[in-house]
Amino acid sequence: MSILVLGGAGYIGSHAVYQLVDQNFRVVVIDNLQTGHREAVHPKANFYEGDIRDRVFMRSVFERETIDGILHFAANSLVGESMTEPLKYFDNNVYGTQIVLEMMKEFGVKHIVFSSTAAVYGEQMVMPITEAADKNPTNTYGETKLTMEKMMSWCEKAFDLKYVSLRYFNVAGARGDGQIGEDHNPETHLIPVVLEAALGKRPAVTVFGEDYDTEDGTCVRDYIHVEDLIAAHLLALKYLQNGGGSNVFNLGSNQGFSVKEIIETAKQVTGIEFSVVMGERRSGDPSTLIASSEKAKHVLGWNPSRTSIREIIRDAWNWHQHHPNGYQK
Ligand code: UFG
Repeated sequence: MSILVLGGAGYIGSHAVYQLVDQNFRVVVIDNLQTGHREAVHPKANFYEGDIRDRVFMRSVFERETIDGILHFAANSLVGESMTEPLKYFDNNVYGTQIVLEMMKEFGVKHIVFSSTAAVYGEQMVMPITEAADKNPTNTYGETKLTMEKMMSWCEKAFDLKYVSLRYFNVAGARGDGQIGEDHNPETHLIPVVLEAALGKRPAVTVFGEDYDTEDGTCVRDYIHVEDLIAAHLLALKYLQNGGGSNVFNLGSNQGFSVKEIIETAKQVTGIEFSVVMGERRSGDPSTLIASSEKAKHVLGWNPSRTSIREIIRDAWNWHQHHPNGYQK
């Protein structure tokens, strides 16, 4: 069975490739290396460097390879950047997905597992958030992912395609053996930023807003270990292969941690006291996002096993300590 991983050199995609190889799938990777790293691609994967928006390139890969299913991680995914460069997000995320769907139609590939986001929900009053909640993105990134979900749904009606869309909450951690991990340039995500401060790579962590309507005034997020997240993708693939219909699932851990709580836990895990400064709110940030993942547990049989925030931060720390410059030697 041959699986195509789009964005397989990125943080989340590379973890998917490793788990697919562990489970003896044949893996084909496409990545333009805009944010991904060649070193993150598993040596057993068949790697093609190129852009999902490039129809000629995409067709050449689909002609050469027999693809039984697709995991689609290739997208820009920074909330802050999406607010200042919205068209970059529509181009890479929405137009890129259009080409992927065209290829699926042309080459008769039926199954796609798609990386969506909690950002499709925007600001919600009721926690935890179920899949049935209203979708009102507060940032361009979430809007593009919601659009991509809708594209797949319309394509399903028009031709024979089945998709599973997985709405991630905040993904963190790294593979337990420390071989691959998170390496963005610039890094903007809270846990790696905090760990870079612990390593002395940045002078301080800035807390983006202390005046939110939460217990300690800082934003609350639901953190999920990247390995648990990927386990759900493999279950979603199996679900489609077993004849499951198109579906949407939240992936989170059903527990919320504030920015200040993450900082405190990181200080305990690393044993390092680093500087923290209070800053302004970041544009586009909802105050609280906590998932209900009951549906994924029930329908996919998903059983996340690394739900402790200490373990998530510890695995991330293991990667950062041993790769202080990421994939750069
Ligand atoms: N934060 C800080 N300081 C920092 C970095 C982040 O205070 O230096 C805060 C943010 O304001 C936010 C929280 O930490 O309240 C988490 O921020 P991240 O940037 O780590 O993550 P986001 O919640 O913004 O976004 C993540 C993914 C998105 C996804 C979203 C869904 O990066 O792809 O979760 O909630 F859409």
